[in-house]
Order: sequence, then C-alpha cells, then structure tokens
Amino acid sequence: MSKLTVTVPDIGGAENVEIIEINVAVGDSVNADQDLLVLETDKATMEIPCPQAGKILSLLVKVGDKVSEGSAILELESADSALSADADQNRAGAAPAAKEPAPSADIKAAEPEPVAGEERLIDLVVPDLGGASEVTVIELCAQPGDSLNADDSLIVLESDKASMDIPSPQAGTLKELLINVGDKVKEGQVYGRLLTQARVDSAAPAQQALAQQTAVQAASDKALEQASEPTVTAVSAAAVSETTNRMEKPDIHNVYAGPSSRRLARQLGVDLTRVNGTGDRGRITKDDIRDYVKTLVKQAENGVATVTSGSGIPAVPAVDFAQFGEIELQPMSKIKKVTAANMSRNWLNVPHVTQFDEADITDLDAFRASMKAEAEKQGVKLTPLPFLIKAAASALRLEPSFNVSLHHDGEHMVQKHYVHIGIACDTPNGLMVPVLRDADKKGIYQIAREASELIEKARNGKLKPNEMQGGCFTISSLGAMGGTGFTPIVNAPEVAIMGVSKAQIKPQWNGKEFVPRNMLPLAVSYDHRAINGADCGRFFTTLVALLSDVRRLVL
Ligand code: COA
Repeated sequence: MSKLTVTVPDIGGAENVEIIEINVAVGDSVNADQDLLVLETDKATMEIPCPQAGKILSLLVKVGDKVSEGSAILELESADSALSADADQNRAGAAPAAKEPAPSADIKAAEPEPVAGEERLIDLVVPDLGGASEVTVIELCAQPGDSLNADDSLIVLESDKASMDIPSPQAGTLKELLINVGDKVKEGQVYGRLLTQARVDSAAPAQQALAQQTAVQAASDKALEQASEPTVTAVSAAAVSETTNRMEKPDIHNVYAGPSSRRLARQLGVDLTRVNGTGDRGRITKDDIRDYVKTLVKQAENGVATVTSGSGIPAVPAVDFAQFGEIELQPMSKIKKVTAANMSRNWLNVPHVTQFDEADITDLDAFRASMKAEAEKQGVKLTPLPFLIKAAASALRLEPSFNVSLHHDGEHMVQKHYVHIGIACDTPNGLMVPVLRDADKKGIYQIAREASELIEKARNGKLKPNEMQGGCFTISSLGAMGGTGFTPIVNAPEVAIMGVSKAQIKPQWNGKEFVPRNMLPLAVSYDHRAINGADCGRFFTTLVALLSDVRRLVL
C-alpha cells in the first residue's frame, strides 16, 4: 500500500477547465478506470478515470475549481503497491500529448487573401474524426438564416463511442445546411455554408479555433483507442481523453446529454434528470431544455397549475366561444389571477374532506339582536361574523390538532400556539383574505371592530401584505347571500376552512315536540394529510356547541 497523488492528465491543451462533478468521496474504495470527476470545457465534457484501484484518502479539489493538466485532484491509497511504486508514472496525468492538430478543413487553403469587410461564403467541413470513418449527425444546433458567433455549436456528431459539438469556425450567417439529423458524414465532407465578413486577420483565428477543436477531438479518439487496452497504464494514460467530447451516456445521474446541452442546463440552472429527452435514444437536446424551462416559466407565471393545464393533468382544450354567439374578452384583475392560481394549487395539492353540520344559533341571534343597539353606539356592526370568529378561535384552542400546518420538509407538523383567523372577503377586485390576529384573546366588540376595518381595507384595496398573512383557519361566509351549503377550498398552508351559509328557521325535535330554531349551516373542509375525520368530528362538535350556547363563548 502506498499513497499516490492523482493529477489531471493530458486534456488536449485545455487550461483552467472547470470541475462540474465529483463522483467519489473520501473513504471510497475505487476501481481502476472508475470515474473520479467530470471536467467541462466550452466544447467537451471529460470524465477523469482513476489510474488504479485504491481508497480515496483526500480530495484536493471541489466542484467549480478550475484545473489544468498536472493539477493534483486527490490522494489515493493504492491497492497495488507494485503499480504505485512510482506514483508519478501511474498518475492519471501521464498521458501522451495530444496529436498535432489536423490542418483546418473549414477554409479552403487555396482561397485568396480576404479583404477587410468583404463577404465570403465558406464551406463548413466535417473536421478530423480521429479515425472514425463515418459518424451520425444527431443534432442540428442552427438553422439557415441564423446569425452565429465563432464557436457557436452548429451540429452534433456521434459515433458509437463518442460525440462532439462542431462549432462555427467564424462569426457569420448560416446560409445552408446540406445534412439532416440521422445522416452519416465523413471527415472532409462539406455539410453547410457560412456567409462571413472577412477581417484582415480573420482566417488565422478561425483556423486556430478549429484546430484547437480538432486537437481536443483527436486526443479524445486516440484515448478511446487506448482505453480499450487492458493495462492499467493504458487506461490511466488514456484517462481524460477517453471521454473528451463524449456524450454522457446514461450515467450515475441517468442523464444522456451532450456538452452543449449540459452547458445550457447549467447556465439556466436546470436539473437534467428532470428533463425528458426527445433525441435519439432519449438524448436530451437543447430544445428539450428550452421547452422544460418554458413550461416552468409558464407555470410560475400562472401558479402551479393554470386554468388550462398543470401538474400533468390533461389541458382543457381552447374553445372559440364566438362560434356560439356574441362575446367580449375582459381582462382578469391581478387578484383574480392570483386567486385562480392559488385555488388550483390548493385544490390540486390538498386532499380535501368536507364535513357538514348545523349550529342552533337561536340564542346567539337573540343575544346579538339585544346587543345590536349598544354595539352601534360604540360604532360596531354586530353581524354573526364576529361570533363565528370568536367561536372558531376558541375551538382551535380547545382542539389544537386543527391549529397546525404541514412542514415543507415532509417530516414535521407545525403546531401553532397563536390563533389568527382569515376572513374570506368578496371585494370589487376579487376574493381577499385579511387575517385577524389573536382572535382567541379578543372580545366580541374588538373582533367586530377589527374585522370591519380589515374588510373595509380589503374592499378599498388598502390591505398590507402582512395583514393577509399568518392565518391559522379561514372563515368564508356566504350567509348574507344565501345558499344551504358549499364546500370551501382549504387556504393552504392552513389545513382547514369553514364555509358558512344562510341561517334558516327550521323545525327541531326537542324530545317532546318540534320547535322552530334558527339553524346555521356550516361546512368544514380540511386537509386530510394533516387532520383525520375524528379530529374534525371533535373540532366541529366543539365549534357547534360554542355557537349554540353563547355563554360558552365568553368563557
Ligand atoms: N345567515 C343569515 N344572515 C346572515 C348570515 C348568515 N349566515 N351572515 C350574515 N348575515 C346577515 C347579517 O346579519 C347582515 O344582516 P343585518 O344587517 O340584518 O344584521 C347581512 O347578512 C349582511 O352581512 P354582511 O354585511 O355581509 O356582513 P358579514 O359580517 O356577515 O360578512 C363578509 C362579511 C366579509 C364575510 C361578507 O361580506 C363577504 O364578503 N362574504 C363573501 C365571502 C366569500 O366570497 N367567500 C368565498 C366563497 S368560496
């Protein structure tokens, strides 16, 4: 056993190449040829394999670090002392230099010296394929008419062992492409034409760019040949280059995408494991990434689920209503749009159960009527709402299993020790839910006063954001409008909501006879992930009892 420092091998002359993945950790036992980390240049993704079997003693780099040939990347306790006797010889960096760049095939050598500003139509030529006779065109990255910078990807080629982005040799306009996806191409084949504006020195850098690309690819393919040889030395020598310009086959991340797609994904912060590949054999193309981002942006703009689509639910087809009669399109207010998004989100996320009951509010109503004049003197309008708020707050105190939220980590429940009640409020702009704080600690008058202030603010568009946050439970009262019952949607992250319908005098059996009582229809919807039916049964019974016996409310 001995210690050896693994270094970055020959990477075709590329300098300061970023580490995008580290696939091992300290203490890991690794095999010879096992991928240690992944480097990425503008044009290629390169996996650095382990030169020999051993145990990782320490990592000398981290994701995001830039490395060049010879940079130390980790320390390895070699399993094979014979092989590790001379660490320098066995390190990954002992690769042979990349073969000399092939002369550029992109620009015909015989062409006359360009004049500055002169437009030139140049052939786009398949470069040195490192010995592969034919490779398949798997992606066209540009279309005729596209303006390109030098080095923008033009096409992606793939052999059975490697793939590579072929960049534009110069800035210009793509005039034509002579190939299609699926075509087989050979080195030297003209695959398109680019209209360029020549600068005095334009040819040299273009050739250099292509030569560099070709060199990297040449190193890659040489390495591919070497990698198939069964000795440790050959593998370690081939090291990086094995995968230079190679498509990431389904790997530990189960992702099949080329360097340019990976780069785009990293620029956009896209997790490629979430993207559906529509390319050949499920390869993720740049268009797949763009489509994925477009979908996310659309969902974010409209909420998790839009009116027409979301959460994988089939979209409601668009309908031309004008074919059925006269129509006009009215813009939705911002509040209506937000409400639509929130409702969809809550409806889709929360497994709802709704339970119904009736509270006998005959005594409460009589009490309310008796207090109305006095309340008005104090500038308070005594509708059933403040009593409902007080009763709900007391019930939440008595049945704390209702005063919870699900923690976003999926591992905890949040038990709240405060009681803030949301009031669903119909406003000219749409539905708003101001929150009355610490309702359990306040008397009926104070609740009535604060509730009407909040309702007025909501109707005048004066609510501040913090006056709409922090609710534990919402009351949605349609009592003034009528109806015998409805099923309200839970206002997540709250876990329950009460829908109040219009009180009506109904005959009630008192054990001896039917008597007329003022019955208030109530519905409680709850999130079945947080609350069980029995919890709701207890909470609801408590709430109804509080409303039915006004004396309990003041206790
Ligand atoms: N049964 C019978 N009458 C009722 C009642 C009920 N459940 N609730 C209220 N009333 C009566 C009130 O007593 C009042 O009559 P009064 O003046 O004779 O006393 C009248 O209806 C009007 O009450 P209102 O001014 O609407 O006050 P409120 O305190 O009952 O309601 C809001 C205030 C904000 C809750 C209510 O106006 C509102 O906007 N509700 C809409 C909620 C909503 O849109 N929810 C979404 C549904 S999913």
